[in-house]
Amino acid sequence: MASITLNGIRKSFGDNEVLRTLDLEIRHGEFLTLVGPSGCGKSTLLRIIAGLEAQSAGDVLIDGRNVNDVRPSRRDLAMVFQSYALYPHLTVAENMLTPLKLRDLGFAERLPILGPLMARSKYRELYAQVREAAETLRIGDLLNRKPGQLSGGQRQRAALGRAMVRKPVAFLMDEPLSNLDAALRVHMRSELAELHLALATTFIYVTHDQAEALTMSDRMAVMMGGEILQLDSPEVMYADPQDRRVAEFIGTPSINILPGEVDTHGHISVLDVPIDGQLVESARRVSVGLRPEHLEVSSPGVPDAGFPFRVTHRENLGADMYLYGSVNDTEHRLIVRTTPAEAHDLPIGAEVLLVARSGAALIFGTDDRRLRMRDEAHPG
Ligand SMILES: Nc1ncnc2c1ncn2[C@@H]1O[C@H](COP(=O)(O)OP(=O)(O)O)[C@@H](O)[C@H]1O
Ligand SMILES: [Mg+2]
Repeated sequence: MASITLNGIRKSFGDNEVLRTLDLEIRHGEFLTLVGPSGCGKSTLLRIIAGLEAQSAGDVLIDGRNVNDVRPSRRDLAMVFQSYALYPHLTVAENMLTPLKLRDLGFAERLPILGPLMARSKYRELYAQVREAAETLRIGDLLNRKPGQLSGGQRQRAALGRAMVRKPVAFLMDEPLSNLDAALRVHMRSELAELHLALATTFIYVTHDQAEALTMSDRMAVMMGGEILQLDSPEVMYADPQDRRVAEFIGTPSINILPGEVDTHGHISVLDVPIDGQLVESARRVSVGLRPEHLEVSSPGVPDAGFPFRVTHRENLGADMYLYGSVNDTEHRLIVRTTPAEAHDLPIGAEVLLVARSGAALIFGTDDRRLRMRDEAHPG
């Protein structure tokens, strides 16, 4: 288990500045996810931590020790990639044995036939370690298969096993699930979270998929354009985003964003509908974020101020029903979460009033920064 500290990491490829002065403290044993759109610099950052790429500036520390000049193999980290990079001609057991042989055996002891004869007890020891990792991953009965005889999920587990046998101080994973089909990807999320608990080792996990980040992480860092916009637990990231781009990136369906106008007292209205609360800072124009679950279909006869909404599309997910539509037949669109029962009388074309739940609106300035309301509960 290790803590990993990044101080002022910068990286440019020629004129292309990919990471800009990035600081991050990854705690002992935590599952930390780097999440952001494709091209934002996640893999580059992970490769810098692993030592596979040199940073242009800044320091990488593992357990407080500067490892800038330490070779990848000496950093004691295990890297798991999206492409499993298993040797196709070797069995699962032999694949898993390879890193141990490289670490623990001399040249002659690694020879195919002579080696095991020369170093029988060492081999027995190493095979025991392979079997132990395979049991943890529940691939003990697949050890004699070749990668071509495995399913995608089994291959991913074999690749994890090969990373596990060296008992690294941290696992670095770069989109390890993206080659799997959708159902298996969802299943593997819980397996990885369980594996993290079982190994009690630091995991740094890279993904572009916000759902993976939300479901597995202790903390997640949302990256865009080579910067970390916010580092928080999944719960805080969702409920209390500090930046409009974070609010829009996290959550499916995405948060509704509408233009807001602010009067001289800090009261906000959206398309002429007032929003509760009063801004602390002065601003004239803001963006108002309302998640689909923060809107309600108003009951008939209730004289609430709301958004006149016309249903244009319905998405039935079983327990939830999302209604998509336009506000007052303008170009502004909203998504509202309801239940199939509630939406029973709301076919395409239906017109209703949508009301924002009190205190739910997230307000962002023109610079995308979150603006606070007076008396608003503080993050935490
Ligand atoms: N070896 C490289 N040479 C030049 N540019 C690179 C190299 N590796 C990555 N980049 C560039 O750095 C940026 C970030 O890439 P990457 O870290 O792979 O992003 P992500 O993993 O978030 O999708 C991209 O613009 C990419 O083209
Ligand atoms: Mg990548």
